[in-house]
Amino acid sequence: MPRVNQICCIGAGYVGGPTCAVIALKCPHIRVTIVDLNQARIDAWNSPDFSLPIYEPGLEDVVRKARGRNLFFSTDVDKGIRDADLIFVSVNTPTKKSGVGAGFAADLNYVELATRRIAATATSSKIVVEKSTVPCRTAESMRTILDANSKPNARFDILSNPEFLAEGTAIDDLFAPDRVLIGSLQTQEGKEACAALSEVYQNWVPKERILTVGLWSSELSKLAANAMLAQRISSINALSAICEATGANIAEVAHSIGQDSRIGPKFLRASVGFGGSCFQKDILNLVYLSESLNLKEVAEYWKQVVTMNEYQKRRFSKRVVDTLFNTITGKRIAVLGFAFKADTGDTRESAAITLIRDFQQERALVNIYDPQVESNQIWADLNEASPDVPLAAIQRQVFICSSALEACKNAEAVIIATEWAEFKTIDWEAVYAGMNKPAFVFDGRLLVDADRLRSIGFKVTVIGRGE
Ligand code: NAD
Ligand code: UGA
Repeated sequence: MPRVNQICCIGAGYVGGPTCAVIALKCPHIRVTIVDLNQARIDAWNSPDFSLPIYEPGLEDVVRKARGRNLFFSTDVDKGIRDADLIFVSVNTPTKKSGVGAGFAADLNYVELATRRIAATATSSKIVVEKSTVPCRTAESMRTILDANSKPNARFDILSNPEFLAEGTAIDDLFAPDRVLIGSLQTQEGKEACAALSEVYQNWVPKERILTVGLWSSELSKLAANAMLAQRISSINALSAICEATGANIAEVAHSIGQDSRIGPKFLRASVGFGGSCFQKDILNLVYLSESLNLKEVAEYWKQVVTMNEYQKRRFSKRVVDTLFNTITGKRIAVLGFAFKADTGDTRESAAITLIRDFQQERALVNIYDPQVESNQIWADLNEASPDVPLAAIQRQVFICSSALEACKNAEAVIIATEWAEFKTIDWEAVYAGMNKPAFVFDGRLLVDADRLRSIGFKVTVIGRGE
């Protein structure tokens, strides 16, 4: 069995960075180098004051302990590849924006470029591990590229090792994963490569949590897990619409059904819609895969999860307009939270972006506060969401604030778009005093105590609750 002494991770993003930092922490005998073409990102990972490029609770502590010991960040991709026994490919796989499959298929360009770089650079045998989320059978394309370009005495074994961490809890998830999944070809070499990677994880993950399966099952399991998680949210959100129309309470419904041990209580929190870089992308990927396999009904089934999510966002912004007497033109709306979930600075596909775009179109004035998201990111996201509107015009309508209290000043309505814990403990009396009356709160995250807010004087609208 090959032994892993040096690991290279191509891609220093939300997955490559935390995942390989934790491997370095837990395996002090392995030298881990995380490489990326993005100089600014690598500089941030290497910054003397640990201003890391991503915000993730517990990450700084891990990097502080391992960086410079056996954890290194570099833009020298070729050296990283040459020195490694095992290479994680952890590059982005966004939805294709043009060409065949645009809007659905995964853009595998970054995976292919990284694979070609490995083929061109490696002078000794490597285990190449697909960490990125990819369509079923991508490993086969990678193997074809590697085999066609390999040098004498350099063989490549390909593994699939999808990542299941969630942002905001990435370090806890990596320290104690529900499972680690490793897919390999069922050949002698494939099984040996699988055992070598399994040995790395066994430094801290109990053996029974390391699942070894075939390559294609592993690739498909990742898409399936995300699709089923997102489907739960769309299901509960679909029920939230029924609750609003009937007077049932979605929190009570979720609790009641979650007590059934076959359903389970997790991931049943109704919301303004799921966001994040992966749920939508991976479902669309599954839809595309199903269509390519001529499985039309299967494709339609999964597509509905995304359709429902879009509906949930639209429904929420319409409810705001309806409640504010059918017009928000010229009214100031405070949006609390811009990240796609709490405890991350990531804004990719955040529901807040869609809501704010809708409010802009209604010609409202929008104040935004988020404890982690940088202003530049907010402007970039809003600009991308309204490509026909010049940024200067957006900046006349939208204002970024440095506290929740400031954002709510002189507002007609407060929208809770992200479930940051600090929004629970805002001085709501002070918020109320500073707002125009009647003062409305729209809780898109089931976060605040609606009855308490009503006792202060707010008119409160909660997702999944009738008026
Ligand atoms: P990301 O955009 O944060 O990071 C990807 C990095 O790869 C970027 O820094 C980019 O510069 C770098 N890169 C791209 N091509 C490169 C190349 N040829 N050589 C060197 N560097 C290159 O993306 P991410 O969120 O880390 O996601 C990576 C993959 O993991 C995706 O397939 C995603 O679906 C999957 N995933 C993400 C999460 C998550 O929570 N973000 C969780 C599980 C799986
Ligand atoms: C998700 C999965 O949970 C991870 O297992 C997976 O590795 C990852 O996608 C990925 O492949 O990228 P992530 O998107 O980081 O992780 O965060 P989640 O906690 O899953 O939340 C996703 C979205 O769903 C957020 O907008 C969140 O607010 C929303 N959500 C989550 C709800 O609206 N209700 C819930 O009950 C749970």
